[in-house]
Amino acid sequence: MTMLHLQNLFILNTRVPINKLFFENNTHFSSNFSYKLRSNKTSHLTLGIDHGIDSSSSFIKALSDHHEDVLAKNEIGIVDFFEAKNLLVIGATGFLAKVLIEKILRTTPKINKIYLLIRAKDKEVAFDRLTSEIIESKLFKCLKEIHGESYESFIRSKLIPVVGNIHEPNLGMDSIISQQIAKEINLIIDSAANTTFDLRYDLALDAHVNGAYQLMMFAKKCNNLKLLIHYSTAYANGEREGLQYEKPFIMGESITKEKLTTHSPSAKFPLLNAANELDFVSKLKNSIKNNDEFKKIIKELGDERAKLYGWHDTYSFTKAMGEMVIDSMRENIPIVIIRPSTITSSYEQPFPGWIQGLRVIDPAIIFYGKGDFPGVYANPYCLMDMVPVDMVVNTTLAAIAKHGNLQSPELNVYHVASSYVNPLLSSQLLNYSYEFFSSFPFVNSKGEQVKVQKMKYFDNMLDYSNYISKELFNQHHEVEDSKMQKLFKRKVEFLKNFSKVYEPYAFYKGWFHNGNMQKLMEDMSEEERKSFDIDLSKINWRDYIIGIHIPGVKEHVLKGRISSS
Ligand SMILES: NC(=O)c1ccc[n+]([C@@H]2O[C@H](COP(=O)([O-])OP(=O)(O)OC[C@H]3O[C@@H](n4cnc5c(N)ncnc54)[C@H](OP(=O)(O)O)[C@@H]3O)[C@@H](O)[C@H]2O)c1
Repeated sequence: MTMLHLQNLFILNTRVPINKLFFENNTHFSSNFSYKLRSNKTSHLTLGIDHGIDSSSSFIKALSDHHEDVLAKNEIGIVDFFEAKNLLVIGATGFLAKVLIEKILRTTPKINKIYLLIRAKDKEVAFDRLTSEIIESKLFKCLKEIHGESYESFIRSKLIPVVGNIHEPNLGMDSIISQQIAKEINLIIDSAANTTFDLRYDLALDAHVNGAYQLMMFAKKCNNLKLLIHYSTAYANGEREGLQYEKPFIMGESITKEKLTTHSPSAKFPLLNAANELDFVSKLKNSIKNNDEFKKIIKELGDERAKLYGWHDTYSFTKAMGEMVIDSMRENIPIVIIRPSTITSSYEQPFPGWIQGLRVIDPAIIFYGKGDFPGVYANPYCLMDMVPVDMVVNTTLAAIAKHGNLQSPELNVYHVASSYVNPLLSSQLLNYSYEFFSSFPFVNSKGEQVKVQKMKYFDNMLDYSNYISKELFNQHHEVEDSKMQKLFKRKVEFLKNFSKVYEPYAFYKGWFHNGNMQKLMEDMSEEERKSFDIDLSKINWRDYIIGIHIPGVKEHVLKGRISSS
């Protein structure tokens, strides 16, 4: 339990555990806050026959009446779509998947079963993880209120934990269970990933490329599968600049090749092949017997390969290759690839501010509030693309109903991103953080309020390193304790490494068109737009950051580990 709890604090997207550096000296924390359905009849007739359902004329008439109803209502039919469906969710203990599971259970309770693929050494551990990380999670408090005493029996009748691992054959499931699941499920939602930006190349390939391969191998066994949803990232667009459209990745393509051939159409550049990358790394692993040596070589190799082909890091590179694998293997399976940008705390549902783990932008915000992040290596005019988790979930559910009803063997990409419809500059994010911490300062270990200064921006790593060393030294020089001196040095090193890992995102030159999300919104009825809100344009970023996001991080992630006045 303790270990799992601590893991949530490590989702920092760098490999350095931060709690030791920044939380240890602090004392208490007292929180003072608070389609048109375009489904054609043919697809549904096929569906009835596939399922062995009575295909008599009365059944066909009933179906066709239902479609007429849906068309007349001018809606996607989100709630109806999930009735009696069986789902498999992979990565079920993650931030995004849990919010998705909660929303499905709360708004589409006629769902039949949701199999949750959980990494665990055995069934008991998977069961325990279901209980402690999902059923007992504060995230599910509204569902608990709705069901009262029958909450536990309701949720256990719907959620079935299954031991598995996405990058193993049959997704690591026991063969009898995997056959049963393959027979029953109508939808697969793949939310598994390792979101560490500078992840070791072999591990990133396993999670995102081998994982995508095994996912597709399993999906081909699922005879009743209507749709496969896979989460990628908007940053799979790598080093592309300017406005990025929702274009699928095709095996062999790379960003470097795109750039070269745009400037000189006859230019030649090696094709990117995911299988070759897996093979290459596996051979390397076998040839280097010394584990430390292998770790060092593979780390450098991952950075090199990502940059060679036009991506910033192993995370975005392997996520893009995962998309290529899915596209190359999909045959007739309908696929939706959802590419969120940076997922932040819930805007509204199940309640504002829910977040799991200190992620992407949050370490910087919290370090800043603590006075440990006096300057930032970033372009203040760079767009910070954020999207609240409930809007990612609502887009997913609406896209599932739309494409699940359509059943056409296509691959559709959705950018779930705000920069095109409601841009936010990194300087705005930090100014709002300044406003927040000026009103609600943290209290340091001496019981003093931490006074935040307006953020200083640097576009040169050397100047930045010198500045943070000087500023942090000023804070620690009086302390003779050698432990504190060591802590100071580690903080400086941490911030330098942190800034390097985040450099591509702090100077990012792209933004993301979200036309498919806009179309989804047009397809929704007024009622659906209310229950499954995806209108990113209405978010007032200042209100959200000051009133929802930072208080949410303090309440649900820090949980009293840092004090504030
Ligand atoms: N968070 C963001 O800002 C963001 C932005 C854009 C895209 N995305 C994408 O959205 C998806 C969900 O992200 P998230 O933030 O929810 O991530 P997360 O909180 O880190 O959750 C990842 C989930 O994947 C599971 N997982 C990892 N490796 C696995 C494996 N080999 N087999 C089975 N399960 C495995 C983890 O299980 P354990 O609990 O056992 O570790 C966890 O349940 C990912 O595809 C991610 O790339 C996220």
